[in-house]
Amino acid sequence: MNKNFWKGKRVLITGHTGFKGSWLSIWMKILGAKVTGISLPPEGKKNIFEITNLKKKINKNIYLNIKNRKELKNKIEEVNPQIIFHLAAQPLVIESYKNPLNTIETNILGTANLLEISRKIESLKIIIIVTTDKVYKNINKKSFFNENDQLGGDDIYSYSKASVELLVNSYKKSFFNSKKKIVTVRAGNVIGGGDWSNNRLIPDFIKSYEKKNKFIIRNPDHVRPWQHVMDCLYGYILVAEKKFTKKTKKFDAINFGPKKNQISSVKKVVGIILETLNIKVKILNKNINKDYKEKNFLALDSSLAKKTLKWSPKINLNESIKLTLDWYMEYLKKKNMYEYTCKQIKNYITRLP
Ligand SMILES: NC(=O)c1ccc[n+]([C@@H]2O[C@H](COP(=O)([O-])OP(=O)(O)OC[C@H]3O[C@@H](n4cnc5c(N)ncnc54)[C@H](O)[C@@H]3O)[C@@H](O)[C@H]2O)c1
Repeated sequence: MNKNFWKGKRVLITGHTGFKGSWLSIWMKILGAKVTGISLPPEGKKNIFEITNLKKKINKNIYLNIKNRKELKNKIEEVNPQIIFHLAAQPLVIESYKNPLNTIETNILGTANLLEISRKIESLKIIIIVTTDKVYKNINKKSFFNENDQLGGDDIYSYSKASVELLVNSYKKSFFNSKKKIVTVRAGNVIGGGDWSNNRLIPDFIKSYEKKNKFIIRNPDHVRPWQHVMDCLYGYILVAEKKFTKKTKKFDAINFGPKKNQISSVKKVVGIILETLNIKVKILNKNINKDYKEKNFLALDSSLAKKTLKWSPKINLNESIKLTLDWYMEYLKKKNMYEYTCKQIKNYITRLP
């Protein structure tokens, strides 16, 4: 990563009030970029955006719904970005069962709005569209998906993100010339401090830990490519930088997952959490959401990222869990969480080539 590259770059981050978008905004500020965020206002009583006081740290904060094309157009034209990271989405599988149309409208039509507007922004060179590891046709075969595998999606969230992949391809082939690069990035199950979403393992654990409630796990044997948010964002940042400076080979989509020997079951992650905190917690193994089917095995092959970008994960599963828990424990001690998040990112940066 070239620190100087980011100094003064006009970067637009959609979804900056969410978990990954907040981390990315803080990282971009550390690198000296001029950051504008476009999102809905942060959700819930607890969220990383407010806890880190991010509204005051970035250059411009815009609350709007990406479904509103007219408003989105005005704002993007005003910001005149050079690089866009598009993270805004309805990102939860179970929520997509409960509210399918909002998921489809936000994820597919919201992205279509962004692409339609982006193609006319002269200064814009790079668009990073964040999809997911769930874009692949998953028949629960125990194999690692690579970028050439067939797209699919049985639940509405996965379908919406697979559709985004097709949409991006079509916009690219129809309208974008070589001066504007678009890449879709597909990462695994991301963990890190500051996520309070529902039906995600570590946020659910933290909520029950704070309230001293029983901890309910849904699918102890499900296997996922857990990875720390910094490993995943390092991949996104590297793609943007290398594509901008034309220092990489051609690729349209790229996976960022943990090392193959680090994928693990929910049960194992819970074991590491309890061991790291040295506590015993009453665990209830009960799928309260039985109507909402989730795939039981998901893993990514990240060889392309290794080959083309020399990207590799820097944090293993145990350390990812430790860094995540450290963040929440600092938060519970009422520490300055902007400073603490910066500290974790700066330590991470020292490990990069
Ligand atoms: N967290 C993960 O494990 C994971 C894994 C793979 C991919 N992803 C993808 O990464 C991205 C970020 O995920 P996250 O975990 O930070 O989610 P999050 O729920 O914490 O944040 C979502 C963000 O999108 C914004 N948003 C939602 N609907 C919007 C709308 N209609 N208009 C404007 N903004 C809207 C929210 O305001 C928020 O800022 C998503 O695209 C998600 O699909 C996440």
